[in-house]
Amino acid sequence: MAENKIESQQTPRRVYVDYNATTPLKPAVKAAVIEDLEVYGNASSMHASGRLAHARVEQARSAVEKLLGAPAGTVIFTSGGSESNNTVFQAMRRLASGPDGRPLAAGRNEFITTAIEHPCVLNSAQYLKSLGFKVIILPVDGYGKLRMDELQKVLSDKTLFVSVMAANNEIGTIQNIKEIAGMARAAGAWMHTDAVQAVGKIPLSVEDLGVDYLTMSAHKIYGPKGVGALYVRKGAPLSALIHGGHQEDGLRAGTYNNIGILGFGRAAAIAAAEVETYGREISALRDRLRAGLAAAIPSIKINGHPDDLLPNTLNVSFPGAEGEAILLSMDIMGIEASTGSACASGSLEPSHVLLAIGVGPELAHGSIRFSLGWGNSAGDIDYIIETLPPIIARLRAMSTLTPDAVH
Ligand SMILES: Cc1ncc(COP(=O)(O)O)c(C=O)c1O
Repeated sequence: MAENKIESQQTPRRVYVDYNATTPLKPAVKAAVIEDLEVYGNASSMHASGRLAHARVEQARSAVEKLLGAPAGTVIFTSGGSESNNTVFQAMRRLASGPDGRPLAAGRNEFITTAIEHPCVLNSAQYLKSLGFKVIILPVDGYGKLRMDELQKVLSDKTLFVSVMAANNEIGTIQNIKEIAGMARAAGAWMHTDAVQAVGKIPLSVEDLGVDYLTMSAHKIYGPKGVGALYVRKGAPLSALIHGGHQEDGLRAGTYNNIGILGFGRAAAIAAAEVETYGREISALRDRLRAGLAAAIPSIKINGHPDDLLPNTLNVSFPGAEGEAILLSMDIMGIEASTGSACASGSLEPSHVLLAIGVGPELAHGSIRFSLGWGNSAGDIDYIIETLPPIIARLRAMSTLTPDAVH
């Protein structure tokens, strides 16, 4: 009917492909969270309501530990990935500081990370640098992989801490954390991985990886926002970022965020059960998108590692078109993607990750991250493949840049 046609034109199909920015609650998590709203007691209180909340928080902790293949009592809850990363960086800073707070002149006082980390790691590293600590930011290769020879060159008996992300949020490249952790530990350094984008998307276990610290976040695995976790290997040093009460053995003060933590636990249990299926089904959608775009749009460039890639992430450069314009045109057609990490969008700086893998600033500005998830169907992917070519053709026709002018 004509009325329906107008209706569908006004409200185009919505295709959310920005799951690396955040995920919706899975229906099962949402139902559980609604139920969990009833658990209102303070988990530190002695009475029955407090004891119930405490028991449920511990149940959630077990679910998160199980997802990470971690022994009981090795995970602390935080407000998210940013806080977990800051906590471990600041704990390391204290280890490398003298009583006056200044960097120790002798002993282990050097920090190593990579050029493609999330801003919450890079800015933590930058802060330590501003305090006078030696911070080494390692380059990556054209696929976003850390070069082991570069790491080996800088590891020494001065290295205190190595932090390398398990998978990149913008291009999806997966690092060989097991090998990196082995090298860091052989050099006597503490090893941390920011696994916010890897957990729930690829099978992993802290025991197998051999890391001392691992960061994760609930809202990337279909759990609530504002809650995350830090795995701390038994015996690895940690001190509090937030001081106050005795919660989390004094390592993270503040009344337990029952609702967030319980939702996180539910999401973690589901993610553990579904990680294999996720890998199979979501990577099939990603491959369909990659092949479809490559066939339909001339001169595109796919960024990221061809094989060691998150099942859900596809970063594409469209020479001759501008990223923000592509994004807005797609949004009008109901497609929600991203030009880079959500935290960096709004900034006119080209993505530091794309620059680090050798994409020029102009091409970096014309790059889109598609990050898929459980809500997507093959029909959604086909809709993107149909909708995007005329958008790119129109923007290229309007642009002073030609596909050939961009490198
Ligand atoms: C790799 C990575 N680390 C850390 C974070 C920050 O996590 P949160 O949003 O929970 O603070 C993000 C979020 O985008 C991320 O992608």
